[in-house]
Order: sequence, then C-alpha cells, then structure tokens
Amino acid sequence: MHESMSEVDLPLNDPIVETATNGNSASAGILVIDDEASIRESLDVLLSLEGYATAMAVDGEEGLRMIEANNFDLVLLDLALPGQSGLELLPQIKERQPELPVIMITAYGTVDNVVEAVRAGAENFVQKPWDNEKLLADIRSAIARHRAEEENLQLKRTLKQRYNFSNIVGKSEIMLKVFDLVAQVAPSRSTVLIQGESGTGKELIAKAIHANSPRRDKPFVPINTGAMPAELLESTLFGHVKGAFTSAIASKKGLFEVAHGGTLFLDEIATMGMDTQAKILRVLQDRRFMHLGGVQEIQVDVRILAATNVDMRKEVREGRFREDLFYRLNVITVDLPPLRARREDIPLLANHFLEFYANENGFTPRRLSTDALRALVDYDWPGNVRELENSIERGVVLSNGPVIGSDLLPGHITGRSFQDALLEHNPNASLFDILEVIERRIIIEKLERCNWNQTDAAEQFRVPLSTLNQKIKRLNIEIRKKGRE
Ligand SMILES: Nc1ncnc2c1ncn2[C@@H]1O[C@H](COP(=O)(O)OP(=O)(O)OP(=O)(O)O)[C@@H](O)[C@H]1O
Ligand SMILES: [Mg+2]
Repeated sequence: MHESMSEVDLPLNDPIVETATNGNSASAGILVIDDEASIRESLDVLLSLEGYATAMAVDGEEGLRMIEANNFDLVLLDLALPGQSGLELLPQIKERQPELPVIMITAYGTVDNVVEAVRAGAENFVQKPWDNEKLLADIRSAIARHRAEEENLQLKRTLKQRYNFSNIVGKSEIMLKVFDLVAQVAPSRSTVLIQGESGTGKELIAKAIHANSPRRDKPFVPINTGAMPAELLESTLFGHVKGAFTSAIASKKGLFEVAHGGTLFLDEIATMGMDTQAKILRVLQDRRFMHLGGVQEIQVDVRILAATNVDMRKEVREGRFREDLFYRLNVITVDLPPLRARREDIPLLANHFLEFYANENGFTPRRLSTDALRALVDYDWPGNVRELENSIERGVVLSNGPVIGSDLLPGHITGRSFQDALLEHNPNASLFDILEVIERRIIIEKLERCNWNQTDAAEQFRVPLSTLNQKIKRLNIEIRKKGRE
C-alpha cells in the first residue's frame, strides 16, 4: 500500500507538474547559443523539463537569424563562441531587441569579460559548471522582469488610446480611478480642484484635463497664485489700464483674457490673499471682470482648474480661505495619492523616466538592477513622483552602461553608503575599478554643479584643466551641453 502511494506521489516531484502548477514559466521561449553540443543538450533537457520552449543555435549567425524570426523571452549566450564571440554578439542582439534579456554562459575565471558583458547589457552570467537551481531562479527573474516591461509598454499604449494621456503613467487601482474621473470630467466646463502632496502630478493632471477637453486647441494658462504679491497677482490675472498705478505705463491684458476659450490653472491657491480671493470669486460667479483701473466689464469664457497641496477644509475652518470660493472651486475634486500609497506604480514610473532621460541624453536604453528597483519600491518618497524622477535622471547621467545599480542611487534611498552599495554590487571588482567608479562619480557631480563648465570644475578641484580633461577622457565621461537647466 505504502509503495503504491509513493508511486502515485511521484509525479508531483516531476518538474513538469511543478511548473504546470506554479505556472510562472508557462510557454516562455528560451534560445541557447552555444557551440558545445553537450552544453546545448543538458540545457535543453533542464529547460524543457521546466516547461520552457527551447531553441538551439550553434553559433552567432544562426542565433541572430533565430532571434529575428522568433519572439524569445530570454537568450542564454556562450561567451566563448568560435568566430564571433558572445561579447561581440551581444550588441547585435541588443540592437535587434533591446529589451530581450541575455544571460551569459562563461567558463570559470573569465571575470573581466563578464563585467564587460554586463556593462554591455547582459542581464547576468552563469559560470560553468552551473548550479541548476540558481540558473533556473535567474532565468525566472529575468523573464518576469522582461514581461513586466512588456506589460508596461502595453499599458502605456492602452492609456494613450483610451484617454490620450500619453505621458501619464500608472496602473494602481487608485490611479486608474483618477484616470477615469479625469476622462469623465475633462469634456465639461466644470471647475476641478486637484489636491495632492507636492510632486504627485497635479499640474500634469491639469494639463491632461485641458488636453482631453474641447478647449484643447485654446490656451492652457498656468499661474502660481502663491508666488506673487497680491497687487502683482491681481494685475496679472485681470490686467490693467494705462495709468491704473504708477508703473502702469501701458495697458495690459490679464490672464483671464489670455486664457479666453481655454483653461486657467490656478496653482497653489491656499496662499492667495483674502482680497484676491474675493475678486476671483466674482469672476467665477459671472465670468465677468474689469481691468484694474478700468470701468468696462469684460466677459470671458474660461474654464478654471485649481490645485493645492494643503488641506483646504482646514484653511477654511481657520479663516484663511473663503468658504464660498472653496465651494466654487471644489465642484469636482481629484485627489492624487502620494506615491508611497501606490508602490506598484514605482517600477512603471521608473521605467518611464529611464526611457525619457536615456533618450534625452542620447544614451542607449538603461535599466535598473534588481536591487536598485527593490530600493526604489521600498523607499517612502516624501517628494513623490518628482523625487523619483530626479533620482532616475541622476542615475542615468551617472551610469556608464545599460544597467543602473543601487550604487547610483542616492544613499538615503538605498539606506546604504555609496561604498557599501558599490562593493555589494560588484564583489569581484579590483580596488582600481572601485576607485575609478568613485572618481567618475565625483567628477560628474562636480561638473553638474558647475553646469558642465570644465574650467570652473577644474578650478574648484584645484587641478589644471588638462588634468581634468584627461580624466574625463579616460573615464569615458560624456560632456553634456553647457547651460542646461
Ligand atoms: N503619473 C505620472 N506619470 C508620469 N509622470 C508623472 C506622473 N506624476 C507626476 N509626474 C511627473 O512628476 C513631476 C512632478 O509633477 P507635477 O509638477 O505635476 O507635480 P505637482 O503635484 O504639481 O507638484 P508641486 O506640488 O510640487 O507643484 C513632473 O515632471 C511630472 O511630469
Ligand atoms: Mg505643481
């Protein structure tokens, strides 16, 4: 009885059954490029048992042909191929399919080449003889990442199709609700109050509302009502006639007129003075106003959007904001959640910014290492999306290869010192390699601070300009345009 029980149990240990139940490798396709038949065979067996569809190529040429003709999820690439080496082949694969993950297979003790391969975009490497479990784990995580990226792309396309929100990213339930609401209110003329912490995307949402409204071809006029003294704000909003005040030497249109037919975005409304609030209330009530010093009423057709990062009800309760104006502005509220309340959006946003900044700098595509991504997802983001965007931009600028490791993220995000992150990220690096990375980073940061003016940077470092330039050349630092903001 016991014997037959164990016989019945046996298939449960069979890898095929296991993958069928955990399902995460289902039908993924893996291409192995290796000249050694024994390696191809053993990988074929191992991967097929795990439920992967496999394809085998004996050299680079055959491998590239198969990549062009198929849609693989991953490539296992031998570093020491005859003819074209794996290292030479890698950029050709990346050229055809930048996102396709490639794991290098190397003989023991070729660490230098491996470092170079990872710099050139290889996902990872495995040394012969490999440990099956570790290899399978690496394959699973690379495929999962690859699929997540594809899903992001897909999602972006749908958002774009559905709402014309081409530059807004998010897949959390809470953001999808925001998108629905935005799409619903955009076509109307209703006033919308957008609330959210600093950096959550209030201005971006305001622009999306305008872009999805029938007013899209008319002006979108933003004004930061908190940044100006009351008198200047009023003359900016309402315009003035010549001689309305001493410096009014000519008459000037106000933004309410400039925005005629379009949208006026009143940003940071909580800091607006009481007098200005009363005047704005009037315009909201009957869409009429007068130039400062003027006598004629002007009629405008303007849609108002407003934004704030403070609790407006509290402002009203404490007498700093008119209740009647608050209700006028708050016809519809869009609440933007802080980033820490929607962590599933972090990888998506990170990829969005990686793509944007790699492009902007003319770099090849960049991606985050697994530990860098984990650090981003775990961090609390008090500055929300803007802070994430800045961290990614910095990582892209500091990177000198396709992979951005946690060593390129600010220490307060990874919770580790830069040196610790560096040593962990690259345990095989020599002292000179490590010093180079540190030197490179210090020079880039100084150049950034000097607005990429090499002379200033050399002066501050107290080295001759020629020394700095030699280092820039040796460390392969790309000089960015001067005067960039
Ligand atoms: N969902 C998103 N998808 C893509 N980019 C985003 C998203 N949310 C915010 N951003 C980007 O983050 C940055 C900050 O956004 P925005 O200026 O709209 O924030 P804000 O809430 O107005 O911030 P503040 O209160 O500081 O003015 C911008 O560069 C914006 O493009
Ligand atoms: Mg803003």
